[in-house]
Amino acid sequence: MNLKHIAIIMDGNGRWATQRKRPRTFGHQAGVKTVRSTIETCVKHGIPNLTLFAFSSENWSRPEKEVQRLMELFMRSLNKETAELLKQGVKQSFIGDLNRFSEKLQHKMFEVSELHPEDLKLNLNIAVNYGGKWDVVDAAKNFASDVLNGKTSIDDLSEEQFNNYLSLGDGPMVDLLIRTGGEHRISNFLLWQIAYAEIFFEDTLWPDFDATTFSQIINKFQQRERRFGQTSEQIKEQKDA
Ligand code: IPE
Ligand code: IPE
Ligand code: MG
Repeated sequence: MNLKHIAIIMDGNGRWATQRKRPRTFGHQAGVKTVRSTIETCVKHGIPNLTLFAFSSENWSRPEKEVQRLMELFMRSLNKETAELLKQGVKQSFIGDLNRFSEKLQHKMFEVSELHPEDLKLNLNIAVNYGGKWDVVDAAKNFASDVLNGKTSIDDLSEEQFNNYLSLGDGPMVDLLIRTGGEHRISNFLLWQIAYAEIFFEDTLWPDFDATTFSQIINKFQQRERRFGQTSEQIKEQKDA
């Protein structure tokens, strides 16, 4: 299957909870279950990379209580889910500006990212305090620093080399980007890495996004013709050859 990397903007937890007359954090809690089933579906379909947008650099501006609950939930989920994920062949990594988190949480993320499953099935990237614009600026800074240190030169910079300075490194570009929750925007998620992604906006709120809905999107993705600038005729010829 030509689907190497799925990225998801997991949106709609707050509205899901509000519809049930419960606090927004109840929705975030319910969303953890969806994360679990989404990972399982990726493993089942043999998709090797999944990047989940869990907390944006803009989400710090939410009410303090909600941010605090999200941090607690994040810590609790890492403690609770990691052993099982390892068993399933999932390698966890974290992308974003991690320095802003508490020492305890930073330590936990470091510890978890050092764990490698025996039989690797899925690279799971969790984007926290992540912003697409931050990612590009951070890459530019690191590149400039390598130029100043004589490790590389400006003339050597190519798209491929620049990609290596970004937080997902030399991993594959996103093939399929999904946003749940009905909004039609990117909200400063991956920018560079979605340059040629197929985008699906799904109305389902994140806690209700089940394996069936996810698999349906994967099937629809398979039916899309990715032309990368070529004509439809060219693509068909290549398929037939
Ligand atoms: C996404 O759900 C989770 C995070 C941003 C942490 P929201 O909390 O944004 O849910 P809605 O969009 O308000 O429904
Ligand atoms: C995007 O959702 C961030 C995450 C899903 C983590 P938001 O709910 O924060 O996005 P906006 O504010 O609607 O653009
Ligand atoms: Mg939202």
